[in-house]
Amino acid sequence: MKTLPRIVVLGTGGTIASTASDATTLSDYAVTQSVSALLGEDSGIERLMRVEYRQPLNVDSREITNSMLLALAAEVEAQLADPDIDGAVITHGTDTLEETAYFLSLTLQSSKPVVIVGAMRPSSAISADGRLNLYNALVLAASPKARGLGVLVTLNDQFFAARFVSKFHTTRVDAFGAPDQGSLGSVRDGQVHLYQVPVGLHPDAPTFSLAGLARLPDVDIIYDHQSAGLHHYRASIDAQVAGIVVAACGNGSLSPNAQAGLAQAVKAGIACVRSSRVPTGAITHSRFDEAGGLVAAGAHNPQKARILLMLALTVTRERDALQHYFDGC
Ligand code: SIN
Repeated sequence: MKTLPRIVVLGTGGTIASTASDATTLSDYAVTQSVSALLGEDSGIERLMRVEYRQPLNVDSREITNSMLLALAAEVEAQLADPDIDGAVITHGTDTLEETAYFLSLTLQSSKPVVIVGAMRPSSAISADGRLNLYNALVLAASPKARGLGVLVTLNDQFFAARFVSKFHTTRVDAFGAPDQGSLGSVRDGQVHLYQVPVGLHPDAPTFSLAGLARLPDVDIIYDHQSAGLHHYRASIDAQVAGIVVAACGNGSLSPNAQAGLAQAVKAGIACVRSSRVPTGAITHSRFDEAGGLVAAGAHNPQKARILLMLALTVTRERDALQHYFDGC
């Protein structure tokens, strides 16, 4: 007899694990639920797979720190190293979900499915989305179709590659998307429909080793705008951060003080990356980057560029090598 797949669910908190005072309160709520309670009793999941629950964290995702990320990656890797575990689901707050997803996609060595899932409405809400999202995540993690696709993110019946997914809406259940690259597929009625595989992401994309790494280098994000000041750059230089990502305008264009601040930061030995506050598209290379010591972020939004820069800085501080990571990931 064929044994059922075994999936581990790691709970980290977020709206999916939150409740509000009543069913129509959709914004003021708090994390109250443990991960083992989120799916409920009546899903029938036990007919499809064996599910185990772990609770490494139970916080709002805005509270997640670099050291929590390192611990979570170690825990997921340890679970996936168990030959009896077929895949992992991570429940997560949606606010920084894409950061954790991208971090794990760059660091996990296993090709077993890893699916990150959240919800836009607390579990107490009318028409809460968390239970179905979690059910779909479990179906996806147990599917052979999800193997080798890298870390996946699912909400609202769709799933996306961690590399490209981003949160685009503050409240709606279809908050997540990847407008330039599209979804990889959908989960409907307990079936996985795979439309495309993320070409070049796996196994070609680098994975960074976290072995022996006690902490990640500090990287700040600075938002550029009309009439921007120099003081944010001075603060980052004074704080001796290892890197700065600037959320620049348009195709990575920099205000006069962003140019001046980045020049001072580069002189102080800080790795500086031009990303964009525009949510879609890629930052193209500029002929000024090399001379100015700057790196173009490509299609990495500022929060993803920060994740990649932290990891790349564990390997190199050299501009061309950093640019290579941004071109290749
Ligand atoms: C959070 O990110 O922890 C809160 C918001 C959410 O999960 O939607």
